[in-house]
Amino acid sequence: MKVLFTAAEAAPFFKTGGLGDVAYALPKELAQQGVDIRVVLPYYTQMPQQYKDQVTELRHFRFQLGTKNVYCGIKYLKMDGVKYYFLDNLSYFDRPTLYGEWDDGERFAFFSTGVIEMMEVIDWIPDIIHANDWHTAMIPVLLVDRYHWKNRLQNIRKVFTIHNIRFQGIFEPNILANVFGTSYNTFTEDGVRYKEKVNFLKGGINFSDRVTTVSPTYAREILTPEFGEGLEAVLRHNEWKISGIINGIDYDINNPETDPKIEHHFSKDDRSGKRANKEALQQRLGLPVDGDIPMIGMVSRLTDQKGFQLVQERMEELLNDFNVQVVLLGTGEAEFEHSFRYFEGKYPDQMVAYIDFDVALAQQIYAASDMFLMPSAFEPCGLSQMISMRYGTLPIVHETGGLADTVQPYNEYTGEGTGFSFHGFNGHDMMHTIRYALDVYYNHQEAWTQLVDQAMSRDFRWTEPAKEYIALYEGLLNE
Ligand code: GLC
Repeated sequence: MKVLFTAAEAAPFFKTGGLGDVAYALPKELAQQGVDIRVVLPYYTQMPQQYKDQVTELRHFRFQLGTKNVYCGIKYLKMDGVKYYFLDNLSYFDRPTLYGEWDDGERFAFFSTGVIEMMEVIDWIPDIIHANDWHTAMIPVLLVDRYHWKNRLQNIRKVFTIHNIRFQGIFEPNILANVFGTSYNTFTEDGVRYKEKVNFLKGGINFSDRVTTVSPTYAREILTPEFGEGLEAVLRHNEWKISGIINGIDYDINNPETDPKIEHHFSKDDRSGKRANKEALQQRLGLPVDGDIPMIGMVSRLTDQKGFQLVQERMEELLNDFNVQVVLLGTGEAEFEHSFRYFEGKYPDQMVAYIDFDVALAQQIYAASDMFLMPSAFEPCGLSQMISMRYGTLPIVHETGGLADTVQPYNEYTGEGTGFSFHGFNGHDMMHTIRYALDVYYNHQEAWTQLVDQAMSRDFRWTEPAKEYIALYEGLLNE
């Protein structure tokens, strides 16, 4: 089975969020399970030098993008059994950021068209094309519209995965003629038209054979106005082809027994290193060094999606009422950056706000903390809560999306659970649950130890999710 997987980012080349982790780890696992998988990415100049040194120039070619005749280089690299192609055009991908540029519509029109053109240039036509999020959502649309006359491309089955429905890629209608160089045939309610604009994500949903999202709960949630971000009717119309497949985490990178980024290795059976990591982090961050003080970690983009308005609202109460340390790592909305810096200034012995992007510190926080706070308003899957559990850190989460699917809340009657969760998205319910978690930490140590055991025993490998994708691909090919 030949699968072409495409996304706007993939670790370790370039990553802004969870999409980048998934676009690395899922193809790697699919390759291990025998799929002939190849990945296509933009060649952003942000690629670290060590990979730039490894890529080879395969080909270059030109194609028509509206009225422009554009240049496209194909660079190539093989890593972990996966073949990577990078589409290179400096005028589109030599930019300060991966996305958020003024001409993103044209940049990803170039990329999406280039992915299709490339298949013929390298003479490798996949059975399945698997696109991800709005950046590549127009590929299925182009295959049925602009390339409908190319017989070779018409057997390709189209799978589209939504990692976050909030970002849809909405542009002026003339992008179809002027940039994509297509007709307006798809500018319909069951096509790409959305409130008199072109909506890439909507096109991906309507023109793919199957749509997946990254957890079963989120797959149900997005059918409702509360989570559908305006596309709930489109999704309900397409409900028959939508399913949720939970993400995994990379077990090689996120392994407390071998992780080179943490000072003291530990395992489920010998957790002494966990306490040592906490003390090392307290030392490093200038907090009072005391392995008994509970530490709450947060590693996240600082946005509304992640529920930081609740944390902001309850931070003083938390720090005043408890001898607890809060360690936060991330960047994002200025309002949150400022307010957490303010709390750090006011409570220097209890709070550290590390406003930065730092993968090593992130692993140290997962390893050192006792609890991991993730009160997301919505969460398609979420990876941090799974990493936390693997590092023996109990997540405290809002019951939504992938958080609801991966964190089993503590049941004090049966002792079951791998963390704590709350239902209502508000500061009161969150704070109530944090208080409860701290009570278990202080006053019911045996129960706590058992919860950590259970969290560390969960299996969040990619093995099972990858099997589900393979079953989905096979089902499509047998139709
Ligand atoms: C997005 C979602 C996150 C998910 C990730 C990978 O970043 O917000 O919940 O885990 O994509 O699928």
